[in-house]
Amino acid sequence: MTTVLVAGATGSLGSLIVKNLLERGADVRALVRKSSTDKLAAHPNLTLCVGDLADGSDALRRHVDGAEVVVSAVQGGPEVIIDGQRELLRAAERAGVHRMIPSDFSINLFGYGYGINVLSDLRRVFADAFATSTVARTSVAIGAFPEYFLGPIHEVLDPVAGTFSVWGDGMRPIDITTIADTAAFTAAIALDPKTAGREVHVVGQQLTMLDLRNEIEAASGRRWELVRRGTLDDLRAEIARRQFTASSVVEYVALQAQVAMFDGTASLRDVRNADYPDVIPTSVAAYLAGRGAAHFAVSQAARRRGEWPTAV
Ligand SMILES: NC(=O)c1ccc[n+]([C@@H]2O[C@H](COP(=O)([O-])OP(=O)(O)OC[C@H]3O[C@@H](n4cnc5c(N)ncnc54)[C@H](OP(=O)(O)O)[C@@H]3O)[C@@H](O)[C@H]2O)c1
Repeated sequence: MTTVLVAGATGSLGSLIVKNLLERGADVRALVRKSSTDKLAAHPNLTLCVGDLADGSDALRRHVDGAEVVVSAVQGGPEVIIDGQRELLRAAERAGVHRMIPSDFSINLFGYGYGINVLSDLRRVFADAFATSTVARTSVAIGAFPEYFLGPIHEVLDPVAGTFSVWGDGMRPIDITTIADTAAFTAAIALDPKTAGREVHVVGQQLTMLDLRNEIEAASGRRWELVRRGTLDDLRAEIARRQFTASSVVEYVALQAQVAMFDGTASLRDVRNADYPDVIPTSVAAYLAGRGAAHFAVSQAARRRGEWPTAV
């Protein structure tokens, strides 16, 4: 039985990674903060390890000892994504862990360089720590979660105005994978030793923005007016403008993700779904017919300003 330590085990994605690992027969250690110990249901193969990445590698080492794989699904700013994950990596090195999946779960962030997306930059800085590590990095790229892409932060769907907004021509396929499917793929990848040292791209569905609008109209049974917001150069100018005036990265980071999605630099390449045939991802239509129907309601709450947003 493979032993996997999951950091961020109480989060939206991490809790589903834990569930999928247990379903695949893994022995799971969940790193949970003291304030979050009641967030996970008990399971005979699940051990709760109470700790925080901020505790440092010495304290983390005892949780990691004996694990073959570490999966991180933490979320936060530089102190978590860079400093905290570095402490976890140091602990993993000392415990002889073979592989670590960092908390990337993003568009293809290695398809473009620094300065394009502030959240990608944090993950790229952490990736550099593997250059001198005995632990192999396995990065998982999935595109955008529809749960976020169709939520308020991306400004694509506006249920109050009844609009669907696009930058650029909307003709290039983008990559969409639900949180549940990302978790199912990640559990399979975590238990697949062939992924050591690789960037693994898996996806729910690839479709253009114009096709996405068609899917939304079909699922919602209503018309969504297409708003063409400008060219990709206009989008870059809008990001620059917001960077100058914003009080928080929340105000522009989703647009930063969209630039790289729409110009193709963040597109997934060499998609490996066929390596995991028992993961049957949800189509966009099925997502919109189920939980995704919530996007059509007018009551979506705006994210709190000042909060570090999730990577997109
Ligand atoms: N591609 C996309 O469109 C997309 C969209 C959203 C997210 N993501 C990515 O998916 C990953 C997971 O995001 P999520 O939405 O699942 O995040 P989330 O729900 O906010 O969960 C974050 C997890 O990290 C834990 N955590 C935070 N700081 C910690 C620390 N110092 N020590 C230990 N644990 C800590 C939290 O613990 P507590 O429960 O104790 O707070 C929680 O378990 C992130 O890499 C995120 O960027 C991608």
